Amino acid sequence: MKHPIQEEEQKERLRTRVHASPAAAASALAGEIRQLIERNRAAGRPTVLGLATGSTPVPLYRELIRLHREEGLSFRDVTTFNLDEYYGVPRTHPESYWRFMHEQLFAHIDIAPERVHVPDGMVPRERVFADCQAYEEKIRQAGGLDLQILGIGRTGHIGFNEPGSGRESRTRLVTLDAMTRHDAARDFLGEENVPRHAITMGVGTILEARRIVLMAWGRAKATIVAEAIEGPVRESLPASFLQGHAAVEVHLDEAAAGELTRFRYPWLVGRVEWTPATTLRAVTWLSATLGKPLLKLVDADYSEHGLADLLTERGSAYGVNIEAFNRLQHTITGWPGGKPGTDDTNRPERAEPAVKRVIVFSPEPSDDVVGMGGSLRRLVDQGHEVTIVYLTSGSFGVSDEEAAAAAELIAETAAHGGDAAGESFIAQVRQQLQAKKAGQIDPPEVRRLKGLLRRGEAREALQVCGVATGRARFLDLPFYENGRYRQFHIGEADVRAVAAVLTEIQPHQVFATGYSGDPGSVAAVGFEILTRAFANAANASWRAGCRVWLYRDMKGPWDPAEIRMAVPLSPVELAQKLQAIYRHKSQRSQRPISSGQPREFWQQAEAHNRALADTYDKLGLAEYEALEAFQLWPVR
Ligand code: F6R
Repeated sequence: MKHPIQEEEQKERLRTRVHASPAAAASALAGEIRQLIERNRAAGRPTVLGLATGSTPVPLYRELIRLHREEGLSFRDVTTFNLDEYYGVPRTHPESYWRFMHEQLFAHIDIAPERVHVPDGMVPRERVFADCQAYEEKIRQAGGLDLQILGIGRTGHIGFNEPGSGRESRTRLVTLDAMTRHDAARDFLGEENVPRHAITMGVGTILEARRIVLMAWGRAKATIVAEAIEGPVRESLPASFLQGHAAVEVHLDEAAAGELTRFRYPWLVGRVEWTPATTLRAVTWLSATLGKPLLKLVDADYSEHGLADLLTERGSAYGVNIEAFNRLQHTITGWPGGKPGTDDTNRPERAEPAVKRVIVFSPEPSDDVVGMGGSLRRLVDQGHEVTIVYLTSGSFGVSDEEAAAAAELIAETAAHGGDAAGESFIAQVRQQLQAKKAGQIDPPEVRRLKGLLRRGEAREALQVCGVATGRARFLDLPFYENGRYRQFHIGEADVRAVAAVLTEIQPHQVFATGYSGDPGSVAAVGFEILTRAFANAANASWRAGCRVWLYRDMKGPWDPAEIRMAVPLSPVELAQKLQAIYRHKSQRSQRPISSGQPREFWQQAEAHNRALADTYDKLGLAEYEALEAFQLWPVR
């Protein structure tokens, strides 16, 4: 019997290029766009580009701006058509795609304003149809799109063609999918502010472009990307329609490519070099696929599921099973900071020094307890010197409602206590909140109050974890204070602030998160800053003795083969962890959640920790209530 996936003739039905980073992909693509523009110019033709918004194309636009500024690339004869625009959102709105494009690209290059086209989100309902037809007509008159740039949504949408959009669909008014609106909630500072409709080019319109480039970064996109590239063409996944186009190229970073068969299950598509890491992946995959614990796998299981090679190389299933079992068994420890005075040969962390200096970096104030609340408690209980460093204030995650309620209380307290300075601060907050329009970025005093609310929650959560609140540091990094979602720019001051903490504490252990996530996210930006701070410290005396452990956000399941340390949580410890997460009151839903909506974040954390315990159990390891897990960085 062959594994069903193996019977498909060819896995990747779209030409796919995998890059080391989004920046590397952006630089390759910008170079191609430059060639296209210059070739057309030499032939006396303008260039017509179809453009996308969102976080994905931002690195590309930055690189195009650089080519313009530093290498003289001109856009004077370039015409652009954007894919889509939110309906009912005026150009001036901070989240309008018109404004996004101007801020991210058009304002920084020499494109002629009359050559820029973005669908009009404010056209009255009765004129929408005619307006959409006119948009298509303009594309035709411009000679059609030379190149269409696309991102992909987690629903598999391209443009705003959500699941159910037809292959022949044209530019039209559409309703946004619930997941898409949820994903846009942070940009709009609350899901209730996200528009319900948008105007988008149709799938048919997109497919008429002469060339199409689809880009995707980060682990959160990996599953949908693999389905679009390797799965059947279907309306439920509009990006799969690209398979019918003759000139499509998909550009991915390694994280977004992670679920493609050639990386995830390489033994199904060709010869594999059997390193310990790939062996472990294959064996855990085989066990999960067959629903059999590791130690019960037999030769026939291997040979019938594309792993005959591995068997030939290693002789028999027996040895491979034992080795995989032991490797996973050795990831389990109740001593995340190492167990003093023991032989640590087969333990994830070193026994010495018995008391370690530990830094836990938390990009936003709840990431620490969500990702590692149980292990945090153990580190402290086991006597390590733990410092929790909150990189950002997390103020964007607090609703205006919540801030207004807090302002009322503080106003009364200040008046009661005769605190004039407090009264004047809170009067400013109230006035700014009243003047604030939906979706507008918070003025400074409102930000400050919201940030302080999150500090309070973080301290409460730490207390529940048994961690003294004096161990917390709040860096309020400038990239966040001066930015907004998707528009973060790392500055020297960010790196300096993190480097200063590292130099001061000289840690033996660092816990961090944000690796391989959506590069536009706060967590990923925080991780980039940490990476740079570490690069600066490459020669510091403490660096060689410092291990960096990565805890995970809740985006997608763990591949057990990636885990280097798994910390069990007893039922009591799990309950404590959830209580700690629950203290982040501003992060809970503000209203009751109707079914079909995403679950509360503390419930998701619980589900993840339980699911991992279940995975270990099914592989035939011990059965725990819940597990927190860590990778070792650099990831090997
Ligand atoms: C944007 C667009 C969308 C995005 C997609 C991915 O114009 O049409 O299809 O490309 O939602 O969004 P990001 O890049 O923000 O993950």
